[in-house]
Amino acid sequence: MSTDVKPRLVGRQPSSAWGAPGEDLVVTDRWRQARAPTGPVDHGRSTPVNDAWSFETRQIHAGQQPDAATGARALPIYATTSYVFSSTEHAENLFALKEFGNIYTRIMNPTQDAVEQRIASLEGGVGALLLASGQAAETVALLNVAEAGDHVVSSPRLYGGTYNLFHYTFPKMGIQVSFVADPDSLDSWRAAVRPNTKAFYAETISNPYQDVLDIEGVAAVAHDVGVPLVVDNTVATPYLIRPLEWGADVVVHSATKFLGGHGTAIVGAIVDGGGFDYTARPERFPGFNTPDPSYNGLVYGRDLGVGSPLGANLSYVLKARVQLLRDLGASVSPFNAFLVSQGLETLSLRMERHVDNARAVATWLQGRGEVERVAWASLPGNPYAERAQKYAPRGSGSVLAFEIVGGAAAGRAFVEALELHSHVANIGDVRSLVIHPASTTHSQLSEQEQAASGVTPGLVRLSVGLEHVDDILADLEAGFRAAKGA
Ligand SMILES: Cc1ncc(COP(=O)(O)O)c(C=O)c1O
Repeated sequence: MSTDVKPRLVGRQPSSAWGAPGEDLVVTDRWRQARAPTGPVDHGRSTPVNDAWSFETRQIHAGQQPDAATGARALPIYATTSYVFSSTEHAENLFALKEFGNIYTRIMNPTQDAVEQRIASLEGGVGALLLASGQAAETVALLNVAEAGDHVVSSPRLYGGTYNLFHYTFPKMGIQVSFVADPDSLDSWRAAVRPNTKAFYAETISNPYQDVLDIEGVAAVAHDVGVPLVVDNTVATPYLIRPLEWGADVVVHSATKFLGGHGTAIVGAIVDGGGFDYTARPERFPGFNTPDPSYNGLVYGRDLGVGSPLGANLSYVLKARVQLLRDLGASVSPFNAFLVSQGLETLSLRMERHVDNARAVATWLQGRGEVERVAWASLPGNPYAERAQKYAPRGSGSVLAFEIVGGAAAGRAFVEALELHSHVANIGDVRSLVIHPASTTHSQLSEQEQAASGVTPGLVRLSVGLEHVDDILADLEAGFRAAKGA
């Protein structure tokens, strides 16, 4: 199949059935016929989505038009598992990817589609895929390029769940992950490469270590050895760092955190930068260069990649959707996609206040005798301050950590004494959150592994919320009082 994919779907991921006026018309008309036999209702002006709009405008409008059938201005929650085909030919074409349109909500859904387009726009990618969780997004992002017998090179400074996935679960699937000895050394990344390496992986700002990745440098090494750089941009969000502009190829998110922002839904996302040509080394990426028998012999790199009729290199994100999401089934519910859309609409505003509050808290902590060190990259004197200034000039987010004098006992007493801060295993909520990583998120790691992830016994992690900063500081003060007696 495939060379007859409709050429009008140019330059970005095809929207699902209801595409913007002028886009994807064949599918849109068919869809309207199927749902509204009397013809579409004209609800007047729609908002033309413009890629030149600023971040603040795109976070509200990208990917969404007023609903074609009802005129609903807010994003409808399409709570449907399936979509009516207008004919057997239409159904056949959709299954053969000759037309793009909705088939089944495990693989695509109009509510998800709007959120995917919006996140792709904010990150500057050619397409995005929402998944059931951040963990699912990481899994699919790497399984899309690596299979049994392959190898991935990763920074060791990772969220604990990601470390477990890479250290325990991927090896059970035949994929080995090497953790570079020093993620700040480009030689260290290069030294970890093997002939079967398929990707580099790192967090742009790591949780909880707070190092800022040398995205440009690591991407250059990755490209030199012929593999894509996949980065987790959860802590930074595209408002603070846009990794694709610095050379990363794929961005993953736990949208559970700042993108959703309200602590209401577990969601993951993958964004494809469209810049990596998987056909350049066919022997390294057979999954992109050999026919997929489960998809009518589609050759993803050739048919959906560079030089394809799609007008952009969409091979990575479409393969992830139609092959891995179809088969592994880690799909997001439309309701959860909607909840993320609600958060995205205020992302820039929330991140500005998160950063202001985090800056005030980090500065306050640094001045206290009970604190041995504060890990917040934008703090003057922090080893990563220069890199934070380069990649995240607005500030390095609002997840910060500090080492309390008195070690684990003081850390536990501090956490238990807080009242405004919620003691939870989460970050990126409007509420201020606290946790003691060594006994929780990173407790499955050995002492040595904890040290490599930047987790020490007395480390306390804060996710600074949007409450008034005076109230946040007063609560932390109470924590220090309690820790003194520990
Ligand atoms: C940086 C980072 N990446 C990924 C994840 C996993 O995301 P989820 O909990 O949505 O599966 C988390 C969760 O805390 C995280 O902090």
